[in-house]
Amino acid sequence: LRIVRHHAELRELGHEVGFIPTMGALHEGHLSLIRQSASERLVTVVSIFVNPLQFGPQEDFVRYPRDEARDADLAAQAGADVLFVPDASWLTEGILTTIHVGKIGDRFEGEFRPGHFDGVATIVCKLFNLIGSCRAYFGLKDLQQCAIIQAMVRDLNMPIELRFLPTIREVDGLAMSSRNIYLTSEERDVAPNLHRILTDCAVEMANRPVKSCLEHAAQTLKALGLEVDYLACVDRNTFADCTVLSAKSALIAAVRLGAVRLIDNLLIEM
Ligand code: PAF
Repeated sequence: LRIVRHHAELRELGHEVGFIPTMGALHEGHLSLIRQSASERLVTVVSIFVNPLQFGPQEDFVRYPRDEARDADLAAQAGADVLFVPDASWLTEGILTTIHVGKIGDRFEGEFRPGHFDGVATIVCKLFNLIGSCRAYFGLKDLQQCAIIQAMVRDLNMPIELRFLPTIREVDGLAMSSRNIYLTSEERDVAPNLHRILTDCAVEMANRPVKSCLEHAAQTLKALGLEVDYLACVDRNTFADCTVLSAKSALIAAVRLGAVRLIDNLLIEM
């Protein structure tokens, strides 16, 4: 594994690049993306950058877990060739130009985290520009992020081939996330209910109106102590509400459990 800190050293990567942008704190979800790229025989580049542009003022930018040595070991084992770790803040400090993702970024995560998706899109655009034409891998756990990046690549004609891979879960169903380490052991026991209730809700929606299933699921989450920020059925590409299920529908949710916010989703199989 070659560790690269400045983009000048990225120039001689060659053409067949697989790129996995991350904020570090790697878990099985990230590793599945790295393994997929490596299995496609691409020069596999993983970036680690905790992007200040995508954190709100009250969020966890400062305490976000950082452990480069551990991440480097995991990335190497999963088959990464290059770890791109831009030094500190030269990537974002003093920039004047940013990406605004439009209305797809205003709802759901965008409503609860104003500016978040503009920050994500801006850094992902910058990283794409530094890496060059490539195949880029993202986890479906952040479904709205996937939709936004898909729209950005299409709208701005970026020479990037996108791959979105399934959410990796703990055995009890909890979606893997770098932020799961913030859960207390009591909260960790409650957290898998989110996936369970989304799964039950998806089953119910095959036979009952979407709206009443969502209401029922929201009540069940609440009764378990999960405060619902949103729970909705949307088109997975546009994030417009779905009142009738289609093969493009997804159930999306964000809940708060103590100080931790969990997000998850389920793609509806039809
Ligand atoms: O999903 C993430 O970890 C981040 O949003 C990303 C894509 C690396 C941009 O900072």
